[in-house]
This record gives sequence, C-alpha cells and structure tokens, in this order.
Amino acid sequence: LDNGVARVPPMGWNSWNTFGCNINETLIRQMADALVSTGMRDLGYQHVVVDDCWFNPNRDSAGNLQGDPTRFPSGMRALGDYLHARNLKFGLYQVPVDRTCAQYFGGYPGATGSQGHEAQDARQFAAWGVDYLKYDWCSPNGSINDQVTTFARMRDALAATGRPIVYSINPNSIHAKTGPLRDWSDVANLWRTTEDITNAWDTGQTNGYPMGIQNIVNVTVPLAAYARPGGFNDPDMLEVGRGGMSDTEMRSHFALWAMLAAPLIAGNDVRSMTSATQAILKNQNLIAINQDSLALQANQVSGDSTRRVLAKRLANDDVAVAVALFNQSGSTSTISTTAAAIGKTGSSFTLRDAWTNATSDTTGAITATVPAHGTAVYRVSGGGSAPPPSAGTLVSGASGK
Ligand code: GLA
Repeated sequence: LDNGVARVPPMGWNSWNTFGCNINETLIRQMADALVSTGMRDLGYQHVVVDDCWFNPNRDSAGNLQGDPTRFPSGMRALGDYLHARNLKFGLYQVPVDRTCAQYFGGYPGATGSQGHEAQDARQFAAWGVDYLKYDWCSPNGSINDQVTTFARMRDALAATGRPIVYSINPNSIHAKTGPLRDWSDVANLWRTTEDITNAWDTGQTNGYPMGIQNIVNVTVPLAAYARPGGFNDPDMLEVGRGGMSDTEMRSHFALWAMLAAPLIAGNDVRSMTSATQAILKNQNLIAINQDSLALQANQVSGDSTRRVLAKRLANDDVAVAVALFNQSGSTSTISTTAAAIGKTGSSFTLRDAWTNATSDTTGAITATVPAHGTAVYRVSGGGSAPPPSAGTLVSGASGK
C-alpha cells in the first residue's frame, strides 16, 4: 500500500503471544521501558502494539470507542503520549466485523468492532496518536470479496485522517479455507499469511489452528512475489523467547522471518529475557537483512521442502543466502549452493556468517553444515547481482478456524 509507511518491514512488540487478554497500561509501559533499556528500540523495535482486550465493552454516548477504564484508567491517548515521549510508536488492535476475536471466542464482553463505525474509529485512532492498526477479520463469515470491500473501507478511513498509520490486516479466517492468498498490497501494508502462530516448531497443521514455525514457513515461502516496499507478507508475531523450541529452532525462526521480509514483532516478555533470547532478537546482521531498503522477500532457489536454499536480494548488489534445513530425521546435513545460483555475477565473493559475524572468501561455493532444524545465513558481497529470481507459485491453504 502506497501510504508512505512500512517501506521496510515494521519492527516492534505485541502483547498477544505472552499476555493474551491480561493487559493493562502498567504492563504496556513496562514493556516500552524495557524496549528502551535493552537497546531493542534503538535496533528498530519501535512499534508497541496493544492487541485485543483493551476495549471498554461500551462505546460512549457519541458512539466513540473507549479504553477499558480498569485496565487503561489514564486513557488511550495518555498511553500514546507515553510511547511517543520515548520515541516509540503506538499500535492498537481492532476488527472490521462486529466483535473482536476475544469477544467472539474468548468471552470478553461487548461488541466493539468497527463495522459501521469505520470513519469515526479511524478519527479516534488518529486523535489518540495511533501509528499502527492491526485489523483482524475474526469471523468465519464472509467471502474474499466481502473482505476486500471491508478492509478497503478502513484503508480509506485511515487515509482520510491524514495521519500516517501502518495498516496490518488479518484475512486468514477466510483465505485459510478458500486459498490461495490474495495479493493484498492494494489494501494494506501487512497481511497475515496463515492461522495463528504458537511456540512450537511443528504442530502438524497446513493452515489450521495453531501453526508451528515450519508450517508457516511452508505457506509463506511461495508468496515471495507479493512482498515490496509498503506491502509485506505477515507470517505472524515472533515466538522467540517463549519456550517450546530449542535454541536452534528459535534461531531458525528469527533467521527465516528476517529472510522472508516479515514484520519483526517480538511476542515475548521483554522485561525478562535470557541472554540467548537477546542474542537472537538483537542480531544486527539479521535485522539489517530484514530491514534492507530493497524490501524484497527471499526466494527459494534450490532444495525442497525439507532442505531449502533461500536468497534475498539486498541493496548495493549484496545477496543474503539462508541455507535452511528442516530435517525431521534429526540429523545434521551439509547443504550447498553457489554464488551464481543466488543471482551473483563475478568470480570472488566475501561471505559474512550472520550468526558468528565471521567472514570468509569464496570463488563461488557456499556450503554449510547445518544441524537439524537449523538455518545458516550468509551475506554475500562482492561481484554484482543479476535481477532477483522470479517468484515461485502460490499455494492454497487448508482448513480455517
Ligand atoms: C486473532 C489474531 C491474533 C490475536 C487474537 C486476539 O486470533 O490472529 O493475532 O490478535 O485474534 O484475540
């Protein structure tokens, strides 16, 4: 979407993965402070997104949305001010239907969706200083055409406020059932590609609830052609630092999200992170690959669905190559590609290992010995680049929620 924001994938933190409905303004402020004190903000994690359950179940007498008076007693505008004073950005969750996901499935009271209130709610968000809207079609009803019309209505309402607001949509409840995923770049800055993520490597789902890391990668890799400045596939928020996976798997999760030009929205409790978690979330080589100004998603250039070689064209003729192994057998494998195969021209190159920061020279061979579920990533410099390889074909999803 050409609305001036999200020219590279947004980074930040979202309350849902760890806290679900258990949120309040003190918690959100503590997360904001932790993003600053850990240095994450300065590495790019700027958007603080308050997910579902911030709502007063009743609109005011003029029909305006309000924050829950117990959870957010200072009001939503005050929270936005708190974030802006710390050079952070303010994100909120809402739905285009009548009830939020927690109101639909989780017993949260009220029916405060934006349906029929789009212009009024967009003005309210702008007045509160909202910089990022997560707009979640949490309903089994409707069609893709209904979604296009409805998501476009909020796109236009946000534009009419004059405030630049990242527009993140979740059309998964329909496309997961009907597939393939539509190219939403005319409507939104970010669009979810699958059902909800969980902190597991593999849940056995192809596009059902909940999705493991590997399951989401399988759906999102073939969608590379959709990604561009202002519009990105969204394979959902990060599960790094949430347990349920080995350190190798968490490193792969982050490396693959970086390569897929995915929004890097941390979902862990950033007040208390292990050093291993911090080392992953603060990996500057991978963040730079994700935030590269060309804003392209990696294409799969060789391998199959158990051993993938992904290449992401970067600015200045660099290419990042991820050598990924999704080996269910649990054994280490050696995976190889060449500079030519990832689109580089020339005869001498430098490889920088994104994890160790070590550099090495090569005349073309790129080889990694990768543990089961591991991902090696190199930045390949030197020589020149051919145009990025064309994208693969689109996949259809299976069952929805
Ligand atoms: C849906 C979304 C999640 C989260 C919840 C909140 O499930 O996909 O990311 O926002 O709603 O209820």
